[in-house]
Amino acid sequence: MRRPLVAGNWKMYKNAQQAGELARAIVAQVGQGRGAVDVVVCPPFTSLQAVGEALAGTGIALGAQNMHWENEGAFTGEVSPEMILTTGCTYVILGHSERRQYFAETDEQVNRKLKAALRAGLAPIVCVGETLEQREAGRIEDVVLGQVQAALQGLSEAELLKIALAYEPVWAIGTGRTATPAQAEEVHSLIRSCLRQHYGAGVADALRLQYGGSVKPENAAELFAQQNIDGGLIGGAALKADSFAAIVKAAC
Ligand code: PGA
Repeated sequence: MRRPLVAGNWKMYKNAQQAGELARAIVAQVGQGRGAVDVVVCPPFTSLQAVGEALAGTGIALGAQNMHWENEGAFTGEVSPEMILTTGCTYVILGHSERRQYFAETDEQVNRKLKAALRAGLAPIVCVGETLEQREAGRIEDVVLGQVQAALQGLSEAELLKIALAYEPVWAIGTGRTATPAQAEEVHSLIRSCLRQHYGAGVADALRLQYGGSVKPENAAELFAQQNIDGGLIGGAALKADSFAAIVKAAC
């Protein structure tokens, strides 16, 4: 059985003080009631320290939303795996569609970041997903499975087992237009078959596949009940403690 993973992606919201407050409210509401679910919150870099302090000893993990693949160097504006580790991060989101779309992040860069995250001992959440245009052109499979294979290139089985993949259809992110449970499950099942074919049943059965894109308390339970959906990557609804706690509960 795969342990569900529910992660909050706070994107570019919350200064350090607001982030600390939100983290404390999440701790209070998610509390002990999360059963066998892994819970992570991913604030902006500038709030990692404050949120890390609020989460200490609670069992809720801290994650970053991005990182560079080098540990140090002349890379103005970038943050390294080592730097996020020292704030207490154990997770990192990589290849989010907003990074691909607005910051021109490529599959090759996602692969480099993924390898660097694994070397640093971070647990990566790697995002994949098609745009509406690609979906309508019948290219879901080639786009999503292409992103999966490019991201995972050159990894050992032991490394693959440390990763979670988040399927986030770009047309569902922040739009209020959630994929139906059947639409999400269809792609999750394709991803799992692709993993089975390329990396074997051990990896395919163990790797967690999160769904992301307008997950809300009202639709979370039905999405998470699908056979190949192992939790979610939550944007907007992760910015309020009560809705995030309700989504975590739906995964229990
Ligand atoms: P959303 O974002 O829940 O606001 O759609 C999800 C994400 O971008 O990870």
